[in-house]
Formats: sequence, C-alpha cells, structure tokens
Amino acid sequence: MLITFEGPEGSGKTTQIKALAEHLCAQGRDVLTTREPGGTPIGDQVRAVLLTNLENTDMHPRTEILLFLAARAQLVEQVIRPAAQAGKVVICDRYADSTLAYQGYGHGADRDLLRRLLDFATGGLWPDLTLLLDLDPEEGLKRKKLGGEWNRLDAYTLAFHQRVRAGYLELAARDPARWVVVDAARPAEQVQAEIRRAVDARLAHAGH
Ligand code: TYD
Repeated sequence: MLITFEGPEGSGKTTQIKALAEHLCAQGRDVLTTREPGGTPIGDQVRAVLLTNLENTDMHPRTEILLFLAARAQLVEQVIRPAAQAGKVVICDRYADSTLAYQGYGHGADRDLLRRLLDFATGGLWPDLTLLLDLDPEEGLKRKKLGGEWNRLDAYTLAFHQRVRAGYLELAARDPARWVVVDAARPAEQVQAEIRRAVDARLAHAGH
C-alpha cells in the first residue's frame, strides 16, 4: 500500500504524516515514511542542489525536472518498492504528483510528457491513495516563514504557487478514486481525524 501526501508549502504534511504513522503503528502495522526530494544518500545530494543551495538561482526548468526525477528513481528502487513488496504501508511526503503540480502546472511543462517521464522514473509505481492537504498558498507561505525551512522554490512568485494549488485540485478532480482532498486550513487535530478516516477506510477496502 503506497499512500502519498501532496499539497502546497506549509500545508502541514510533515506533522500530519507523523501523526498518521503513529496511528497506523498503534494498529500493529509496519509503516515506512519517506520525504522528497531525498530519502537516500544520493537523493539527499540531489536535494542540496535543488533546494538548499540558494545560489542555484539560474536553474533551468528542464534541469529542475530531471533532478527531481533522478532523486525519485533512486528512492523508489532503494526504499519504496522493497518496503511495499515486504507488505509495509509506505507513506510518502510528496511523490510524482508534486512534479505534475510544480513543474507541470507551476512552470507550464508539458504534462503528458511529464507523465511519461514519471512512469520512467518510478518504474510505473503510482500511489494507491493520495491525500491533498489543500491550503491557500499565501497562508502556507506565511506559516512557513514563521517556522519552516525556507527553500529555493519558496522564492517563486505567489502566482506560481497559486497555479500549483489549482493544478493539484484539477488532478484530484480528475481521479477521485485515488485522491482525497482535505481542507488543511482547519486545526491540525481535525485535519488528522479526517486523514485517519480516509486511510482506515482505504486499508479496510483493500483487505489490509
Ligand atoms: P520541502 O522543504 O520538502 O518543502 P515542503 O515542506 O513544502 O514539502 O521542499 C520541497 C520543495 O520541492 C517544495 O517547494 C516542492 C518542490 N518539489 C517540486 O517542485 N517538484 C517535485 O517533484 C518535488 C518532489 C518537490
């Protein structure tokens, strides 16, 4: 079972994933969490080039796409696929849909081409369930300035982040069997309760 969390900056994915993992572990499940980009030694080096090195201001969008995909390919083969095959519940903090939302809707890259590249990078591994923590990017960036770790992409315009949000909502509307949209503007406990309901229902449906 592969569960992914998506959403704009500051939507609380990390906190919510931690609480969900505790809930699933308490049910006796074997849980593995990952975060993108990174999560492997090679992926962490790519993360530094993509995000933490704020000097990389002239990165071309195609370069950005290929680096995100490179980090993901490594994470899938080294971590995600082996864990899923071992029967674990794998929870990813961002996955392929981040590329569609940020590089596709945000930068305007060809989304059909991106889907083919994503198939290549992931070896065709797509999530069983995707939770979209939906939040107004203005609010998200405000939250992030208060406490989060600032990255190179946060400096993109608000219009970019608005396109990302709209893109996520469109992806979710097109595939309601996989996506659940959660209003992340509410208090964290309410958001977590809704996430748990969605995940428990999906696990029960899948016979887990
Ligand atoms: P991170 O610090 O992990 O932030 P967040 O808490 O918002 O997840 O930064 C990840 C950044 O990389 C975030 O700005 C989204 C972006 N990103 C892409 O643009 N494309 C991708 O494929 C992925 C995985 C992330």
